[in-house]
Amino acid sequence: MQRIVVLNPKGGSGKTTIAINLASYLASRGHNPVLMDYDPQGSSTRWVKKRLPNQAPIHVIAAFEKDGRTTRAFQLRVPGEATHVIVDTPAALEPRHLPEMTRDADKVIVPVLPSDIDINACSNCVRDLLLVAKIKRDENRLGVIANRIRRNTLIYQALIRFLHTLGVPIVATLRDSQNYVRAAQLSVGVHEMKSYVVQEDVEQWLPLTQWLETPRRPHVPGSHGTSPTSTSATAPSGAASTDAAAAAAPGPAPPSIPAGVPELPVAATEMSRVDSENDVESTQPLPAIAV
Ligand SMILES: Nc1ncnc2c1ncn2[C@@H]1O[C@H](COP(=O)(O)OP(=O)(O)OP(=O)(O)O)[C@@H](O)[C@H]1O
Ligand SMILES: [Mg+2]
Repeated sequence: MQRIVVLNPKGGSGKTTIAINLASYLASRGHNPVLMDYDPQGSSTRWVKKRLPNQAPIHVIAAFEKDGRTTRAFQLRVPGEATHVIVDTPAALEPRHLPEMTRDADKVIVPVLPSDIDINACSNCVRDLLLVAKIKRDENRLGVIANRIRRNTLIYQALIRFLHTLGVPIVATLRDSQNYVRAAQLSVGVHEMKSYVVQEDVEQWLPLTQWLETPRRPHVPGSHGTSPTSTSATAPSGAASTDAAAAAAPGPAPPSIPAGVPELPVAATEMSRVDSENDVESTQPLPAIAV
């Protein structure tokens, strides 16, 4: 069973959209996904509960609910036949909760929007995942999704350049599309909609689903995994798939960054410092999660 955590404390970055579409993708391919909803807004839970009996089944666990009649372990138990657990996390998740939330995760996906505020929040989130949650880049379990992208905008290019400095692979680039809004209303994912309507959106999921199939790797002390320049930033359709491949076998194909792209909110030197600190194992006990 694979555990996939979708996480970014910045509200509205697309966590729920990605979690439900991933569940829909897996269910429509015959897998048995479970959506674990930690967000008190309960959007994922509502989306599952509105699905019709003839749609591919998705099991949901409303992890945000506190049920005093049963134990927490009982409330969060995953059915034995589950193939994937997709964890939808809430906005404003505090850094101290990150270790518990990501400890057993095979993959951690951070969606980020193309805006100055979101870029800044994403840099804090990735820093906390590296330093607080102690995720190592070379483990191949951390990936970023550039979400609600409009190509040929300066802010899109700034986002891609910023993601380069993080040294975390861009595992998908999803366009800003009303198909996601319609799909959410209909309690389906884009993979369950008419293919001629959603073809472009569905194609953009391919690099993500390929990356999800690549295994976690053991951390090699002293290695920082994917280098800050080993993610691809240019070719729109091929970029993310190159990134997924780079995540599976880091090293080749340093990308070119378009000329005139604005300066970055996080300097590469800062991320090198994060790398050094990331190599120090924490001796602190992990806090209990209370979301
Ligand atoms: N690629 C996309 N194209 C168009 N709209 C999108 C896209 N991704 C997300 N949205 C829309 O953006 C809004 C916020 O998305 P979503 O609820 O998934 O974010 P979130 O990170 O889960 O928010 P929160 O932090 O509040 O839980 C929703 O209205 C959703 O339909
Ligand atoms: Mg949400």
